[in-house]
Amino acid sequence: MLEEFDLVIDRVNTATSKWDTLATRFGRDDVLPMWVADMDFASPRAVQDALLRRVQHGVYGYTVKSQAYTDSIVSWMGRRHGWAIDGSWIVPAPGVVPALAVIVQAFTQPGDGVLIQPPVYHPFKRTIESWGRRVVENPLVERDGRYEVDFDDLEQKARQAKVMFLCSPHNPVGRVWHEDELRRIGEICLRHQVLVVADEIHADLVFAPHRHIPFASLSERFAANSITCAAPSKTFNLAGLNTAYVVAPNAAIQARYAAMSAKASMAELNVFGSEAMIAAYNEGEAWLDALLLYLKENFNYLQSFIETEIPAVKVFPLEGTYLAWLDFRGLELGVQELDHLLVHEARVGLNEGHLFGREGEGFQRMNIACPRSLLAEGLTRLRDAIVRPSE
Ligand SMILES: Cc1ncc(COP(=O)(O)O)c(C=O)c1O
Repeated sequence: MLEEFDLVIDRVNTATSKWDTLATRFGRDDVLPMWVADMDFASPRAVQDALLRRVQHGVYGYTVKSQAYTDSIVSWMGRRHGWAIDGSWIVPAPGVVPALAVIVQAFTQPGDGVLIQPPVYHPFKRTIESWGRRVVENPLVERDGRYEVDFDDLEQKARQAKVMFLCSPHNPVGRVWHEDELRRIGEICLRHQVLVVADEIHADLVFAPHRHIPFASLSERFAANSITCAAPSKTFNLAGLNTAYVVAPNAAIQARYAAMSAKASMAELNVFGSEAMIAAYNEGEAWLDALLLYLKENFNYLQSFIETEIPAVKVFPLEGTYLAWLDFRGLELGVQELDHLLVHEARVGLNEGHLFGREGEGFQRMNIACPRSLLAEGLTRLRDAIVRPSE
């Protein structure tokens, strides 16, 4: 089954963000795109078949949250994450980022603080600021080549915030938070009445022995003070199908979220997205297990390539997600010089680390969810630009 991930599928001219916006995004169209978080793999056969069946029906009118939709989520959360949820806690959303925008509007007022832990997925900051709320930062700290939460700082910063966006697993640093870390975050947020918004979109993409623990599964108190944002979109490569949802176990929080979502006209479901999600959750488990093996092998390949061929670059351990976090500070280049080297000399399109906060300066995020041949091509381009044969 792993061979199917070796297949290179031409995505050019399919109106895809990753491959069809290179000239605009990077200023040239010959970079190898290893940036935005989608995969260059086809979704599972069961998903394709479900979509084909739905396409053949021919009528694509408004759609509602069906029992099959709810059951597929409830069953997935129970099977994969040991989290027993009730169908009534689920509210569909067009995406996790749109859900975050609804949450900001429903649970904060202009000027209120929202906590984030940079370097972190950049739309967090953008969403908070575009609704006139204040970003409160609790930067992660790097200790012995691994990122950790600064709990003393979090205790202080929580006093200034109404909501915390918890990225779990964390994009871009690749951490899968441990139970004790989640518990400490949960207790601090309860103490200061900060609503925890757990963005768990990468929850299924975790490498053994690490294990994703849904924040809200840890205790009823945490569940009552949380909204979890989830989706099958990263897991099964469905990002273009609008398949996200939130899980809010607290009925008052759920009602407040649902009311704002309806007010913003964001409660509609996508007919193809629902079909794809149901098939993915009900029939995609073996495919996902194979994907995880392939991604892990990709990461091992990247790690040993960089260690031996580009030792000036440091690779952070990847506990979860398919986004490798690379430290280029050893090259001693300025932010713009580094971006220039990567785009114009190496011709690789990564995500610039500074996008994720100033803590990311000197870093880059590389998407490794691609056939190994493309990964090898990207790494070779990097090596040839950084370790020049003449040097
Ligand atoms: C942490 C995180 N949240 C949300 C998203 C995007 O979610 P959506 O496409 O559902 O808005 C991403 C995509 O990379 C992500 O990494």
